[in-house]
Amino acid sequence: MKPINVGLIGIGTVGGGTFTVLKRNAEEIMRRAGRPIRIVVVADKNLELAQQVTAGACRVTDDAFAVVNDPEVEIVVELIGGTGVAKDLMLKAIRNGKHVVTANKALLAKYGNEIFQEAQKMRVMVAFEAAVAGGIPIIKAVREGLAANRIEWIAGIINGTTNFILSEMRDKGLSFDTVLKEAQRLGYAEADPTFDIEGVDAAHKITILSALAFGIPMQFDKAYVEGISKLDAADIRYAEQLGYRIKLLGITKRTPEGIELRVHPSLIPARRLIANVEGAMNAVVVQSDAVGSTLYYGKGAGAEPTASAVIADLVDVTRMATADPQNRVPHLAFQPNQLSDLKVLPMDEVVTSYYLRLRVQDKPGVLADITRILADEQISIDAVIQKEPGEGEEQADLIMLTHQTREKRINAAIAKIEKLGVVAGKVTKLRVEELGK
Ligand code: NDP
Ligand code: HSE
Repeated sequence: MKPINVGLIGIGTVGGGTFTVLKRNAEEIMRRAGRPIRIVVVADKNLELAQQVTAGACRVTDDAFAVVNDPEVEIVVELIGGTGVAKDLMLKAIRNGKHVVTANKALLAKYGNEIFQEAQKMRVMVAFEAAVAGGIPIIKAVREGLAANRIEWIAGIINGTTNFILSEMRDKGLSFDTVLKEAQRLGYAEADPTFDIEGVDAAHKITILSALAFGIPMQFDKAYVEGISKLDAADIRYAEQLGYRIKLLGITKRTPEGIELRVHPSLIPARRLIANVEGAMNAVVVQSDAVGSTLYYGKGAGAEPTASAVIADLVDVTRMATADPQNRVPHLAFQPNQLSDLKVLPMDEVVTSYYLRLRVQDKPGVLADITRILADEQISIDAVIQKEPGEGEEQADLIMLTHQTREKRINAAIAKIEKLGVVAGKVTKLRVEELGK
């Protein structure tokens, strides 16, 4: 059986894993794909690394453009990351009539509309299972497995690095910087780890899931993005006392007014399965009308877990390479001429519940002042805890959970509360996601 020829660009964490797994499981993969999948050339800036990993099994080069222009190459696997040269390489590969497999969520979230349009014009496939939640086949699940459903919302722990940091800080009392260094050593973090910490990587991924779930174009620039860098250990403790865990969630939701698209630390009831997802593991909950709630769990980062998704795409592309493009699964789940222009809501219009932490004077009437302000904004309170002031202190922590309200209402209330003389400093606001039906 004639092999399909692959050019691999980038043989770092994911590229190295892909090379290794493809070699180790070549026989099994061929039985699935129907023909051998053969890497004929590898490009990496680090030629020595490429030579070391490939050990003479294929050609190596430090010129990535030589791969996308190579007439022998039928599928280009882009695993260098970033939105600069990776974009030029991908578009060049497509224009040269080559199929592309990528793990590059940043590139797809920002330029996916242009890339998929070009791919459609050139009648080639762009496969990207590894771009969201590493080894979990969530793209296939949302795009194909749930095709009968009207998807209502998706919420996921889709950044392994931040989940690893939150888990290790909580369980082992390690510092933020120590755990981040370990995540980098293990190959979980992005080249620029602020993408992980500030929620940008999760926003790239939820942008992709939102497009697949609702049949809308990629709209990364409209996503609300807040990371974990300002999260205080006190809030993690108080959340636990209230029966919640704090996780960095990517959320996208269909509402009558439009689509919510947001990433931020969230309190989740500890009894939910997703609240117990620890370390670099990822999990995604999809709420749909026919099947109800489904949960997808697995390794969200690392060499071989991500390679698993890259190779699944290689198998798909190999099987479908000779098919009529009309009969392939559309890149974004919906037929390209059926995309909808549902608007993405600004964060002010999002409706959810809130956790507030205030530092207040320990004296009568304080709680009444605060609850009056909340009532004026039509915000009702679900729970209140007032901590005893520390030894010799006159101020105490006040923690409140609210029922659902609109973000602009809670912001207006917070602005008024912060002006009260009995409230010291800023109010901490976190969002609470019940993740029920
Ligand atoms: P690495 O940094 O480990 O590997 C990238 C490799 O590509 C490096 O060897 C790098 O060389 C090389 N490279 C960079 N630019 C070029 C270029 N212009 N030409 C040739 N080679 C180049 O990254 P990862 O493997 O971690 O990530 C790759 C992609 O996979 C990214 O898009 C990332 O977001 C995505 N991803 C990563 C996951 C993970 O767990 N790591 C999981 C899911 C997706 P040098 O180091 O010398 O710059
Ligand atoms: N930096 C990413 C993460 C890699 O930590 O989840 C997987 O996409």
